[in-house]
Amino acid sequence: MNAPRRILVTSALPYANGPIHLGHMVEYVQTDIWARFQRLRGNQCVYVCADDAHGTPIMLKAQQEDTTPEDLIYRFSAEHQRDFADFLIGFDTYYSTHSEENRELAETIYTRLRDNGHIAVRTIEQAFDEEAGMFLPDRFIKGECPRCGAAGQYGDSCEVCGATYTPNDLKNPVSALSGSTPVTRESEHHFFQLADFTDMLREWTRGGHLQPAIANKLDEWFETGLADWDISRDAPYWGFEIPDAPGKYFYVWLDAPIGYMAAHRHWCDRNGEDFDAVWGAESDAELYHFIGKDIAYFHTLFWPAMLHGAGFRTPDGVYCHGFLTVDGQKMSKSRGTFIKARTYLDHLGPEYLRYYFAAKLSADVDDLDLNLDDFIQRVNSDLVGKLVNIASRCAGFISKRFDGRLAGELEAPERFEEMVAAGESIAAAYERRDFGRAMREIMDLADDANAWIAERAPWQAIKEEGREAEVQRVCTQGLNCFRTLMAWLKPVLPETAARTEAFLQCDPLDWDNAARPLLDHEIAKFKPLITRIERTTIDTMLEQSKADLAGNAGAEAPAGPPGGEEIAETINVDDFSKVDLRVARIAAAERVEGADKLLRLTLDLGTEQRTVFAGIRKAYDPAALEGRLTVMVANLAPRKMRFGTSEGMVLAAGDGEGIHILSPDSGAEPGMRIR
Ligand code: 2FM
Ligand code: ZN
Repeated sequence: MNAPRRILVTSALPYANGPIHLGHMVEYVQTDIWARFQRLRGNQCVYVCADDAHGTPIMLKAQQEDTTPEDLIYRFSAEHQRDFADFLIGFDTYYSTHSEENRELAETIYTRLRDNGHIAVRTIEQAFDEEAGMFLPDRFIKGECPRCGAAGQYGDSCEVCGATYTPNDLKNPVSALSGSTPVTRESEHHFFQLADFTDMLREWTRGGHLQPAIANKLDEWFETGLADWDISRDAPYWGFEIPDAPGKYFYVWLDAPIGYMAAHRHWCDRNGEDFDAVWGAESDAELYHFIGKDIAYFHTLFWPAMLHGAGFRTPDGVYCHGFLTVDGQKMSKSRGTFIKARTYLDHLGPEYLRYYFAAKLSADVDDLDLNLDDFIQRVNSDLVGKLVNIASRCAGFISKRFDGRLAGELEAPERFEEMVAAGESIAAAYERRDFGRAMREIMDLADDANAWIAERAPWQAIKEEGREAEVQRVCTQGLNCFRTLMAWLKPVLPETAARTEAFLQCDPLDWDNAARPLLDHEIAKFKPLITRIERTTIDTMLEQSKADLAGNAGAEAPAGPPGGEEIAETINVDDFSKVDLRVARIAAAERVEGADKLLRLTLDLGTEQRTVFAGIRKAYDPAALEGRLTVMVANLAPRKMRFGTSEGMVLAAGDGEGIHILSPDSGAEPGMRIR
């Protein structure tokens, strides 16, 4: 037997400002299956991850919510960890990039890169928002595309014609933060000189560490030349201050991948393991990163170069997966197919999706489609109809006729041996991340086992004199097939595997013991191990998903959907009657300091007054609103904003340009209900 391998695996670190959705789950399920597989093979495999907790969007979201970034990232981390745990993702550590270990490692890597001459400092010009008092990331500047003139384009690329450019090229730019026109300001920035690593990277990217599609893509990047990477940001910024540059911070993408090391360091310190033995330049441990194809550039160029330049080892593999589509289309909020992990878990067990993803995953970078009808069909037919069926057909005879005892030998032992021989090919498929292939092989063997049991028909044989012992041996063969197949599915279905171990009263299954049959052994009474999925459950989940996301629209958003947006789905009268619409008098309207889109409205409902923040400032002079009647949603949950709590929402029509608040006809009084 080979010596156990020492393996460290990671999944990309999710940002700490949004929920986990099924699109994320592809990667965590993929990595978790691979890690569990390695452990079942007897290897040491440590799986670490963390929240990606720095950067401008997190800083601004905390401001909006009138809280601290620490509080925000703490809340999201707890939520993420619950979601992952409930999807049975077995991290050894789930940490945060906002940690002392990460600060220390980021400083070490930066300092070494600087001392080795790979950091340049020079002054650049950048858009600055004078109202917000900060430099603007490209994504926070909007304007007209310099090439096609399309309005409302971000500072880095045009969604209409696909042009890429710098924010300076945008026509009529405005800050997405304050709506003011940005000015150009100079500032000193720190750059990582990626081109210093051209030779090393050419060799590394062709060294078998990447999928061919990604290596080919990299050739294009080499051709354009490796540009310097701007790794610093000016205050105010949420991140780590650069040691020799007060007021400058590491760009979030500098310390994010270092978060892999920090999480592992944290785990090592708690488990008495040697961090340097894994990360040192001479390491003989294996290191693999699982990521989405959209972040390949960071992981296949910057990251290995940073590691190498700072005297650490480089990864053995960076494996990209494609994006998740649902029913053949991009996940969509209006169709309800933008499904949060929690919404899924409120309706369905984690193993169904783990199995479906496994059945569709391969080692390539293609997108993966969650076709909901196929999902139901595949899970019901493979897991219930094929796999569990083997056990349910055999278990009853063993408990009722043989006191729950398996026979001392198998009927047709050679067929068990033959099946076990497939274990190496299944293992090889798992190893190269061709989980779809592994699932197919396992299900083919389940088909064979079912066909064999049908042929031996224990339900017939048991009625015939003198065939009892044969029935016991046939069912013992059936249950042993089931047990071995379950062992091979254990990386995908850890809970069902645990229930199987309890049912068969056997040791925890692994690759090794799955090859030896359980004989002359008492088992427990069979209970259903997996239940079928019903279409109605899926439909209810989609409905909840739509409702979840509808609840996220807020008073700060522009008042209405842009013209031409699709009509929302049909609702019934009960749904509608949940919305308490009231006539309200605008008793007072005033500007909100620091929020260029908002007006603070005091709304009089006759019996009470409400404060509502409405995103209508660009369309209305506050004084002109005072005294006028409008329509409000009176039973919207209060929403805490940076400037105070909004206690409802006023209704307005909009097409993305104009905003037009609604008024009732004459005769309406404050407080009247609208139906
Ligand atoms: O793209 C993202 O969601 C990033 N938060 C991934 C970071 S992965 C690693 F580099 F930390
Ligand atoms: Zn354009």
